[in-house]
Amino acid sequence: MIKKYIFGKPLNTESVIKDVENGQISDLSFLNVNYKNDSVIFQFPLEKDDIVYGLGETTSTINKRGGRYISFNTDMGRHRYNTPSLYSSHNFIVIDSKIKFALFIDSPTRVIYEIDYKNSNEVKIICENKNFNLYLIKEDTPYKCVRSFLSIIGHCYIPPLWAFGYGQSRFGYKSEDDLNQVIEGYNKYNLPLDYICMDIDYMDHFKLFTINEDNFKNFKDYVFILKKQGIHLVPIVDVGIKKEDGYSIYEKGKEENCYCKNLQGDDYTGVVWPGDTVFPDMLNEKSSMFFSKNFKFYTDYGIDGFWLDMNEPSIFQSEYSKEDSEKKLTGDKNYYLDNKFCEYKCFYHNVDGEKILHYDVHNIYGHKLAISVGKQLDTLLDKRYMMFTRSSYIGTHRYSGIWTGDNQSRWDHLKMNIHQMPSLNMCGFLYSGADTGGFSGYCTRELLLRWMAFSLFTPLFRNHSSCNANRRECYRFKKVSDFKSILSLRYRLIPYIYSEYVKAALTDDMYFKSLSFEYDDENVKNIDDQLLVGDSLMITPLIEKGKDKRTIYLPEEMTMVKYDGSDFKLTKMEKGNHTISAKLNEVVFFIRKGKLLPIGKECKNTSLIDLKDVQLLGDGKEYDLYIDDGYSKDVSMDKFITLKK
Ligand code: GLC
Repeated sequence: MIKKYIFGKPLNTESVIKDVENGQISDLSFLNVNYKNDSVIFQFPLEKDDIVYGLGETTSTINKRGGRYISFNTDMGRHRYNTPSLYSSHNFIVIDSKIKFALFIDSPTRVIYEIDYKNSNEVKIICENKNFNLYLIKEDTPYKCVRSFLSIIGHCYIPPLWAFGYGQSRFGYKSEDDLNQVIEGYNKYNLPLDYICMDIDYMDHFKLFTINEDNFKNFKDYVFILKKQGIHLVPIVDVGIKKEDGYSIYEKGKEENCYCKNLQGDDYTGVVWPGDTVFPDMLNEKSSMFFSKNFKFYTDYGIDGFWLDMNEPSIFQSEYSKEDSEKKLTGDKNYYLDNKFCEYKCFYHNVDGEKILHYDVHNIYGHKLAISVGKQLDTLLDKRYMMFTRSSYIGTHRYSGIWTGDNQSRWDHLKMNIHQMPSLNMCGFLYSGADTGGFSGYCTRELLLRWMAFSLFTPLFRNHSSCNANRRECYRFKKVSDFKSILSLRYRLIPYIYSEYVKAALTDDMYFKSLSFEYDDENVKNIDDQLLVGDSLMITPLIEKGKDKRTIYLPEEMTMVKYDGSDFKLTKMEKGNHTISAKLNEVVFFIRKGKLLPIGKECKNTSLIDLKDVQLLGDGKEYDLYIDDGYSKDVSMDKFITLKK
């Protein structure tokens, strides 16, 4: 059962795309609806063992109890397990109590969740703006609530096959020479690689839709040469446009009145990487088109992959936040970017002729951008594109993947990555992953290997780091063969990962699931360091420093697989608790009872994969494998072939 409840006069956020029957607000008495000033508050009591799932890209565990979360898209590079806001807002929660229900609060501005916060034994949701749609879903299980929700927000975006390969990235690669060095490193050790991300330094003075021609002498040829080697270039595209007279993109947007306006009605200016920057009005159809049409600049070069960044939008400072900026410059430890609400109350959008304060629509700015770019790429290219964005909202998944922003090289951030994946999948985001190894800080060889041993299961598998962090390319570490072993497993699993991804996307399902979504077993209710991956696998990552053993729980008999770079050792294991061990070059995972796992051959990149050339492991009878050319837009259930054992 799904119903929609309209509060005030909501804006169309483009999140839900199916018609949902309207309900009467009086049906919501079990949520104790309260109105306070401009806010609407919902409260629901929790029993001791109730579980609350959801909230997509947030910190904390899979069970959201004990936390305070604020939906307000924030550039938060120093986040920890209790940081309330990250880069995206995904207002979907599922409550596993005596009644099983889920809520989607379709509000484009701040929503606060206090979930058994400070042992309150209740879920309290404060919608700071009274104009929003609330969707209520009631089903027999949390998993069914998620499936119903996914069915109204539309199929997830499906990237090309190469986007399931491994990608190397770093803030600091500046030139063709830098990129060539990376490729040489990977080639020298015969390590696989499908793409390299180009961070902001590829541009001319951080001006969008430009290439620094001193560093890339003949970019078109370069893109072509790399593609022939099976390597795609994936440029970053920020949202802010450098305010510089004579810079044609800036001038054109100014002429066509495409930028957000300040309190005085002039183009609002903030400081981001390029210095003074203006912000295209993504809530205005004409302005967002002006922005996204520029992607032709890249597609003309043969580029078919992108990452969208700084699109919360992140603003370092402006004339309105001088005081905050001074704190930042003097290194004030209490300074947090997310305190700068004043910034977002200083500029406006033009939505169908109506002037709307940015603050009131803040959480859909990056979302509208990704939708606009996605639609544009779809018209510019005759094949599928790869894209992942930092900021998003419910519905962005139809056009783009996401990555989880600037994490850190910490063991608990690896754990956070594991916790985020199923929560993101509940909100539709299947093409997702974190900066493997952590964006900032010092990543040890051990942490990188363990992180890779988890990320190899995430659809987006990218090694990215900050310019201040230690170098992370696999070939820079001792005993490169250990890295090769982990990477080779990723490529051998691609036929499975690709098939399971397409199944989940086309049937509005999850790819990463909590065990509790499949097994009716009290013991799995709070397990959040083991996950189901697709229909056949369970993973049990090693996430503790210095430990090559851990205890795990099997909710049924399963086949343990241990891979060391060449062989798959299979061992049947009974239901119950076990201790497993894996050296740094090894990965242990499990095939579920009655299921099959297709395993392909090792390869240098996905252009060389033969998706059909697989062997089947496990005790199941049949497996549906997805076979296509890896880029055609007509992805469909008809392209599965059934393999029998
Ligand atoms: C932001 C991004 C990060 C990128 C950096 C420079 O911090 O999150 O991934 O490397 O900007 O562009």
